[in-house]
Amino acid sequence: MKIAMIGTGYVGLVTGACLAKIGHEIICVDQDQTKINALCGGAIPIFEPGLKEIVDQGVQNGHLSFSTDLTQAVESVDVIFLAVGTPQASDGRSDLTQVENAAKQIAKAANGDKMIVVKSTVPVGTCRRVGRILGKHDIEHAFHVTSNPEFLREGDAVSDFMQPDRIVFGTNSTDAEAIMCEIYAHFEATKVPVIKTSLETSELIKYSANAFLAAKVAFINEMANLCDATGANVDDLAVGIGLDSRIGAAFLKPGPGYGGSCFPKDTLALTILAQEADSPSRIIESVVDSNSNHIRRLGRKIADFCADCWQTDKKHPMIDKRIAVLGLAFKANTDDIRSAASTVIAPLLIKQGASVIGFDPEAAAAAGAAIDHIETTTKIDEALSGADAVVVLTEWDAIKMINWAEKKTLLNAPVVIDLRNLYSPESMAKLGFQYLSLGRPTAE
Ligand code: UDX
Repeated sequence: MKIAMIGTGYVGLVTGACLAKIGHEIICVDQDQTKINALCGGAIPIFEPGLKEIVDQGVQNGHLSFSTDLTQAVESVDVIFLAVGTPQASDGRSDLTQVENAAKQIAKAANGDKMIVVKSTVPVGTCRRVGRILGKHDIEHAFHVTSNPEFLREGDAVSDFMQPDRIVFGTNSTDAEAIMCEIYAHFEATKVPVIKTSLETSELIKYSANAFLAAKVAFINEMANLCDATGANVDDLAVGIGLDSRIGAAFLKPGPGYGGSCFPKDTLALTILAQEADSPSRIIESVVDSNSNHIRRLGRKIADFCADCWQTDKKHPMIDKRIAVLGLAFKANTDDIRSAASTVIAPLLIKQGASVIGFDPEAAAAAGAAIDHIETTTKIDEALSGADAVVVLTEWDAIKMINWAEKKTLLNAPVVIDLRNLYSPESMAKLGFQYLSLGRPTAE
């Protein structure tokens, strides 16, 4: 099937390339000429493992192309995916400007009946709203609007598309349902469960999935704090509860708090949606609070631990100290720094008088542009040289694999604060480090 993909960001580009890989003919459209020029030139504007290979394959076999000409693309297809951004507005709601503008442009360009597949994460009721916008701007043609949320994790997006746990789509007609089944026919062979439901249910499945996952992360972080207070071990606790099939082991790794372009935005949007529906979600409201409190507490925890290690004044421990922050993206295997812990922790340390050098293999440039007064590097040794303390924020393999016996000599002081529990307290103590992690008793 020939399909237009409007929006070539993290979701649109991966979805377009993967739809091409499963046999469709995809034209990816974006208004950003620079991005389209890069894609036409074979460059991938985002870091996503495995994406370049499938984009190159799609371009070579003629199944994937890129354009800034939305009109021409809309005229040449019957199905149009909307994968434009729905960023968080200042009031916490999802900003639907890009969705609404795209709908108006599609209506203007339509040369026949079209199906619009809303891939972007949108508040419940948006698909019906898009239908009304289309009908208002083009009374001549019929438009089907369906909801088809994505469940792609940055860093695993290609495999999440190609091996989905399930496919969800909401439609309001059997014709639309048939077209959606044809688009995803590739997955029938592997018996991937397909949830065919209403527009509203499909939209809410997306929000509630992200909110539940965010709740799991916030929960394990609270348990880590409780382990710190009681001398329990959160790694063993996570295994102990995760083996219960009703809980599951995934998403029980403590960390600096969830970040990224989805969890923070979607949890907040869901709380607002629930409040406006006069059915407030106290659980998700507390998840939002818990997550922001968690990362704030960590700022204090880092300063207090360093003051103890350096035997300096607890009020101003960071003055003239050099801190190496390892991991600037919001997690490993992505270059995305949206709501990354580094964007909270680094400014805090700098404000307290420290100089901060951040390491990240992919997000160094973006973090350097976004965080005032931070130095950044893609070389670990450069970050570690002369550091008075190391703060680990993401679980990049390059960070996991650091040989601390060897790298210790680069440091000014053997102080490591590991907010991803990557290393063993016992091994770090044996190497003579003063080591702090989350929810694990500091080795004596
Ligand atoms: C998420 C959802 O997983 C995905 O289905 C949705 O489509 C988009 O949002 P993403 O934001 O890319 O994907 O990353 P994810 O791997 O889910 O992690 C989200 C945040 O939770 C990250 O900050 C991550 O570091 C954190 N996290 C995740 C933990 O702290 N501990 C965990 O065990 C898992």
